[in-house]
Amino acid sequence: MDTRQAGDRISKLREVLNRHNHQYYVLAQPLISDFEFDSLMRELIDLEKLHPEFSDPNSPSQRVGSDINLEFEQVKHSYPMMSLGNTYSREELEDFDRRVRKVISGDLEYVCELKYDGVAISLSYQDGVLVRAVTRGDGEQGDDVTRNVKTIRSIPLKLHGTNFPAEFDIRGEIFLPREGFDKMNRLREESGEMVFANPRNAAAGTLKLQNSSTVSKRPLDCYLYYLAGTDLPSPFHFESLLMAKQWGFKIPLDYMKKAKSIGEVFDFIEYWDGKRKSLPFDTDGVVIKVNSYDNQKQLGFTAKIPRWAIAYKYKTEQARTRLNSIAFQVGRTGAVTPVANLDPVSLAGTVVKRASLHNADQIELLGLRLGDWVYVEKGGEIIPKIVGVDAEARSSESQIFSFISNCPECGTPLQRNPDEAAHYCPNTYGCPPQIKGRIEHFVSRKAMDINIAEATIDQLFRHKLIGNIADLYKLEYTQLRRLERFAEKSANNLISSIEESKKIPFPRVLYSLGIRFVGETVAKKLSRHYGSLEKLMAASVEELMNVDEVGERIAGSVTEYFAHPGNRELVQRLVDAGLQFSIDESETATSSQKLSGKTFVISGSFETFSRDELKSLIEKNGGKNMSGISSGTQYLIAGSKPGPDKLKKAESLGIPIISETDFIQMIE
Ligand code: IVH
Repeated sequence: MDTRQAGDRISKLREVLNRHNHQYYVLAQPLISDFEFDSLMRELIDLEKLHPEFSDPNSPSQRVGSDINLEFEQVKHSYPMMSLGNTYSREELEDFDRRVRKVISGDLEYVCELKYDGVAISLSYQDGVLVRAVTRGDGEQGDDVTRNVKTIRSIPLKLHGTNFPAEFDIRGEIFLPREGFDKMNRLREESGEMVFANPRNAAAGTLKLQNSSTVSKRPLDCYLYYLAGTDLPSPFHFESLLMAKQWGFKIPLDYMKKAKSIGEVFDFIEYWDGKRKSLPFDTDGVVIKVNSYDNQKQLGFTAKIPRWAIAYKYKTEQARTRLNSIAFQVGRTGAVTPVANLDPVSLAGTVVKRASLHNADQIELLGLRLGDWVYVEKGGEIIPKIVGVDAEARSSESQIFSFISNCPECGTPLQRNPDEAAHYCPNTYGCPPQIKGRIEHFVSRKAMDINIAEATIDQLFRHKLIGNIADLYKLEYTQLRRLERFAEKSANNLISSIEESKKIPFPRVLYSLGIRFVGETVAKKLSRHYGSLEKLMAASVEELMNVDEVGERIAGSVTEYFAHPGNRELVQRLVDAGLQFSIDESETATSSQKLSGKTFVISGSFETFSRDELKSLIEKNGGKNMSGISSGTQYLIAGSKPGPDKLKKAESLGIPIISETDFIQMIE
């Protein structure tokens, strides 16, 4: 391919990928499979590497992110980013309406919108190209987070059509949909990282990450709700946003409505009060804006906020109760979490007895004392939290609370890293909940899949039959039978489940060890890269950092784990017990390309193969596994008792449903 041909191909690929990004992320109607999308992207990245002369900061390849560290530059907003006045009361909304009508005579139109609970962002476009993305900051200037924002697929880097102003800013909210948030926290928990308290914190934290490649892996999204500029396409807010939708922006029209009276505004508020809990993202209220820009001008601004808009916030249900004591839980990684014990109180349909307190800073911030009357709330999170203290009701007997300095389980003095909020018990190998936590992780379904209840682990631990994961492999039938509640059958079942676990392949065994920051994906990457435990143990931090997705933090954690003599001995005992510590060559080798470019979803249980075996057969033959059905799925392999929702979705999308036998024929 000569340079001219490469240039042509690059612009073609950029155009096609931009179109598919829009189909997928804005319209939610993908036209091609993820696999096809990834192959086109791969081709573009490779060509751009070969021909740096065609580099373009707005190429769709830039959305994959880069590893270059950034420092956020402070940038002044072209138009200040105002915040909104807000209220929780209908009366104050009526006052707002009266104030507006005093200034505006004649027809008045409001636009009602949802108030998205994320991070405000201002995007600047010049000649249809995204040039800058800046956070709100202090309203006058904010952080330049352009590189991170470019990884958000629903934000157009280049606008569609031609009828947009030469220069304008568009503002909106970057947020993390709840499903993405839950998944992210699950993964963080699995690898022993601190979880985010709610989707907003997670979105804000993600946007400020230095590494845009990590940002690109988090499913951030962005709704746009405000245009600023001198040359807007319509004299009305709503109609301007309608135009912006045509330029490629994600405008939340489903959650917007015009209203002619404050009565219609109340209807909107009531409608969404009921429905908002079933939305896939968090909202904390409704924003009401005057639609006509002329009217907005007439109304103007106070020092800080526009007079033409207001936010109505939904009340989160609160309850007032007594803080009796603070207990401390020690987790698998040694992190100590304070938990408040409260007088039982009913809140949003359930009785609340406990609330999470996160860490020592939180307790200090609230100024909590034992015996205080406190307010509890159920926010986006399931566990209620303490949001305030009723200082007036404080009795002189309330006791100042100081955070514990020793582990409540083993007495070891706690430690706190200067840049972390949590206290840790450093007695990793001697502290009972840490030991039990590691065993629980080891036996869990995605790890060694040993069929043993938490209570049984506790029982075995108390009877000193197990003190670490390797001890599981020397358990004997007669030892179990001597314990309470261990009938012949349960003892046999446990022994055979432990025996069965010896077949679990290396990547899962590595994940099971519970090395901090080594979740399922990283375990897979490491085991595929090194092929065996021996080689992995010999790797240095620098070598480990060459592995895809492994940074300094993970590499440091892995070497630290294997440097510890206790861990080396433990792992040796597991090797001696016969666990899989190397990759079976046949497991990684691709045996054919028969399924190349084909994507599969499997559902139900199968006769010849286990679900995992089926998945690995798909991969070995060049195919791709997906967890959910979308229009990009090519086949649903259904065993007995497949998920009814999956079947229905496959049928409605016209995706062929095949049996295990059909599948075997495909690869034979
Ligand atoms: S309009 C000048 N519309 O709420 C008007 N803001 O409390 C600018 N927000 O900083 C804001 N949803 O982060 C507007 N539909 C919406 C919104 C919204 C959420 C946030 C935004 C703003 C804050 C003000």
